[in-house]
Amino acid sequence: MADAYILGIESSCDETAAAVVRSGEQLISNVVASQIATHQPYGGVVPELASREHLRAIVPVVRQALAEARHSYESVDAIAVTQGPGLAGALLVGISYAKALAFALGKPLIAVNHLEGHIHAVLLEERQKGNHDLQFPVLALVVSGGHTHLYLASQNADSWAYENIGHTRDDAAGEAFDKVAKLLALGYPGGPVIDRLAPYGDPYAVKFPPAQIKHRDRRGRHDNRAVDPHDERPRFDFSYSGIKTAILRYVESHEMHGLIEARRKALGNIPKPGLEDYLAHCDKQTLDLVASFQRAIVEDLAGKTLAAAEAHNVATLFVTGGVAANAELRATFEREAAQQGLPVFFPSRKLSTDNAAMVAAAAYPKYLAKDFAPMDFSAEAGMVLK
Ligand code: KG4
Ligand code: ZN
Repeated sequence: MADAYILGIESSCDETAAAVVRSGEQLISNVVASQIATHQPYGGVVPELASREHLRAIVPVVRQALAEARHSYESVDAIAVTQGPGLAGALLVGISYAKALAFALGKPLIAVNHLEGHIHAVLLEERQKGNHDLQFPVLALVVSGGHTHLYLASQNADSWAYENIGHTRDDAAGEAFDKVAKLLALGYPGGPVIDRLAPYGDPYAVKFPPAQIKHRDRRGRHDNRAVDPHDERPRFDFSYSGIKTAILRYVESHEMHGLIEARRKALGNIPKPGLEDYLAHCDKQTLDLVASFQRAIVEDLAGKTLAAAEAHNVATLFVTGGVAANAELRATFEREAAQQGLPVFFPSRKLSTDNAAMVAAAAYPKYLAKDFAPMDFSAEAGMVLK
């Protein structure tokens, strides 16, 4: 098989990223410019600001990725870019730049689904470690700020196919982390802060009712059986808006607003608050709430994913996306998958959150299959993975 050096570009949300990957198996360079500082004052991503920051960062980020890889525009074999899902205006910055490069250089252009990228982050790093023997069927949980999706992944020659067997009905798990952190004045993004604070609280202090998900049966009635309306195979859907509301109620009934506002003020005066700063401004009740929240989310993710793995008799489990960086989530999946005798793989923390190495890796099978994008392709904000 031909070696190919692919330049990947990612701009779907709040990270401008570029990377060079060799043949989907060796990370040569990986540059990520985060926009956290831009969006932090708003407690979430502001789409217009995201596009503006991508415009500012895209050229230097790509140049740096090429320089660190000791490559030039001319020496890479193809340009890959995220087509969707994501923020339309943000995606267009990466796509327009990738098209201009591909056109000017006469190189093939490859359009990649961001979610497929998250799955290929795992494959890239496993291949890099020398692990080329992947047992199918593979079940992949993609758990990020925008998605909580379960896919059965299969490979036929160079091409990959995905079947969605579960997704969130409302908020994604990462979104729940971000919204709860915002509510408790713990800054943005919420996942990394809650991850670091949770070990200081009691994860059993606050009980949350499990999410009730209604499934429509063939006669159009609702019941609680997890059955797909189109076939009789089980589905494994998630729901995380209820827990967010439960936290809001807890905050109100325990009169925590005063403390939260004091924390907002205090942390607002610290340019880059560290763990000690957060701990200094969190009482036991807050730490217990945060720890209990994280445990509830992690247990739900692991419980449903492992039930899906058993129902579909899978041989391998992938857990990827920003929330896969979470320490408790990794430990829980490792423990519970081991009990089921199921090998579980995660990307490194660096490749769990958004990056362009995953885009370049996912593009390699398409490069081999000459599955190139036409020059007139556009961003697909709601792109589905199939
Ligand atoms: O994959 P990603 O970088 O972007 C999307 O595609 O959405 O994921 C970002 C999400 C955010 O919601 C962030 O709070 C969450 O991943 N996240 C974490 C951790 N690191 C990032 N959630 C829990 N624990 C973490 N350590
Ligand atoms: Zn992502």
